[in-house]
Amino acid sequence: MSRIVYVNGAFVAEEAARISVFDRGFLFADAIYEVVGVVGGKLLDYDGHAARLRRSLDALSLASPLDDADLLALHREIVSRNRLDEGLIYLQISRGAADRDFAYPMKADPTLVLFTQAKAVLANPKVETGIAVVLVPDLRWARRDIKTVQLLYPSMAKMEAARHGADDAWMVEDGLVTEASSANAHIVDRAGTLITRPLSEAILHGITRLSILDIARGMGVAVEERAFSPEEAKDAAEAFITSATSFALPVTRIDGNPVGDGRPGPITRALRQAYIVAKLQTAI
Ligand code: PDD
Repeated sequence: MSRIVYVNGAFVAEEAARISVFDRGFLFADAIYEVVGVVGGKLLDYDGHAARLRRSLDALSLASPLDDADLLALHREIVSRNRLDEGLIYLQISRGAADRDFAYPMKADPTLVLFTQAKAVLANPKVETGIAVVLVPDLRWARRDIKTVQLLYPSMAKMEAARHGADDAWMVEDGLVTEASSANAHIVDRAGTLITRPLSEAILHGITRLSILDIARGMGVAVEERAFSPEEAKDAAEAFITSATSFALPVTRIDGNPVGDGRPGPITRALRQAYIVAKLQTAI
């Protein structure tokens, strides 16, 4: 089924959408993106994603083609034009088209694209089974706090996971887990403490991570923001990932070994449930 996508000021059928071969997003991955979850046609955690979009733009000295009100209006319009009930909105801004040159062009008009993907984010079947992850070295660049479209290594990591019959990869650097290929990684130790890597340039500052940590603290779960090792993860009572599309999703196998009793843990389940309740209340 053809979607309506947004490209540089116009809503068009996806088959009709066009971008220049000189677009720097295509040639240099000189572009940033955001992913916002949608449930019941409403945007989840929108303010956090809009704020991070600004930070990514600033970090790359990219000019924003939109003010805050237009950005929100575009998100809403793409939902309504596609009658999207549940799924996600993908937004990408590149520096625009210019003759190929590593230096940023003096003048280029940013390219702005939005599209939707329908997806059952609430009734995800993996909630009941959990996902299996494999550990891979983190070979990405060192500014993972900027949400750029340089996603080749995460794609390779996902393929490595698939080769092992797993769902995803957790990346490891200097003997510590950084994050999942497209989500933040967390564990709950046997004492019930949620352990998660602190914010730095080594990981993406997940919007869902932030909300989940707030919710955990509100539920009386102890939260320790420190990096953890693969060994600690394998020995944990629970493990889970967070992202705009997975919310909080249990990880029940790491490198083929069961986490805890091999089933989704109670703290992960409670956090997912509380996250969904809270975010549906504040969805816009
Ligand atoms: N990925 N870490 C990485 C490397 C990510 O790509 C993502 C999100 C996250 C979680 O961030 P948030 O909670 O703000 O979604 C962490 C999106 C969903 C994607 O690329 O599809």
